Amino acid sequence: MNINKIRSLLDTNLIGNEIIYYEQTSSTNDTLFNLAKNSTNDGTVVIADSQTKGKGRLGRSWYSPKGKNLYFSFLIKPKITISQSPVCTFLASLALTKTILSYGITADVKWPNDILINKRKIAGVLTEMSSTNNRLDFIIIGIGINLNMTMKDIQNALPEVSKTTTSLMRETKDIVDREIFTARIINDLDYYYEILKNEGLNSIVALWTSKWSFLNREVKINLEGKILNGIARKVDTEGYFYIEKESGDLEKVIAGDMIVEN
Ligand code: BTN
Repeated sequence: MNINKIRSLLDTNLIGNEIIYYEQTSSTNDTLFNLAKNSTNDGTVVIADSQTKGKGRLGRSWYSPKGKNLYFSFLIKPKITISQSPVCTFLASLALTKTILSYGITADVKWPNDILINKRKIAGVLTEMSSTNNRLDFIIIGIGINLNMTMKDIQNALPEVSKTTTSLMRETKDIVDREIFTARIINDLDYYYEILKNEGLNSIVALWTSKWSFLNREVKINLEGKILNGIARKVDTEGYFYIEKESGDLEKVIAGDMIVEN
């Protein structure tokens, strides 16, 4: 990828002030984590054309072939607590929906970290953090988004989820310029990071909730094999999700997968 082209298109206060590019790395989250041990500036971005150990949530892997998609991570040091760090996933999801909308497509957010178009996953966010003595040192947010994978690519590489996966090219029917997309998403991340800094976590949670089409709808959650049915009622400033059970009680969900039925 042409990093200078990306730099020339940036209009940000912080995110992307430094961009480090690898043709291949294990995982941009891990690479940035290692760099951050020896001090890394707030807003640093690591981009890779391909990853050999791309990571997803809950120990899953993230398919990361070269020349097709976008895999990157950025580091921020927001003034929030350790337990609030999952809300950074919402910030990244908001930026993704804004960038995707600039291609004329409305995307949905799915708790906790997926972006969907017509019920198919196009992107995922993986937030990790480092802390010392119960204080947050930094947060790393990794984003993987399928840009130019064809349906054939998806069927070949991800047969078990090919019916629930998409790419931006599949949706727009046009090859996506990866540098332009990357600059737009970095600009949009910076936009939402300013909102976090100026208005606080509640604004991010409210904005995320406003994009959440599952709000007040019947949902199913898979909690390590146990299925929980109920109505999606809210998310809070620690990123937890609350489901209203048949009894009327609200249950707080910490980690799980929402099941989307096609
Ligand atoms: C998920 O949907 O479970 C999250 C996927 C996150 C993938 C991105 S790709 C860039 C960054 N590096 C990683 O190893 N993972 C994230």
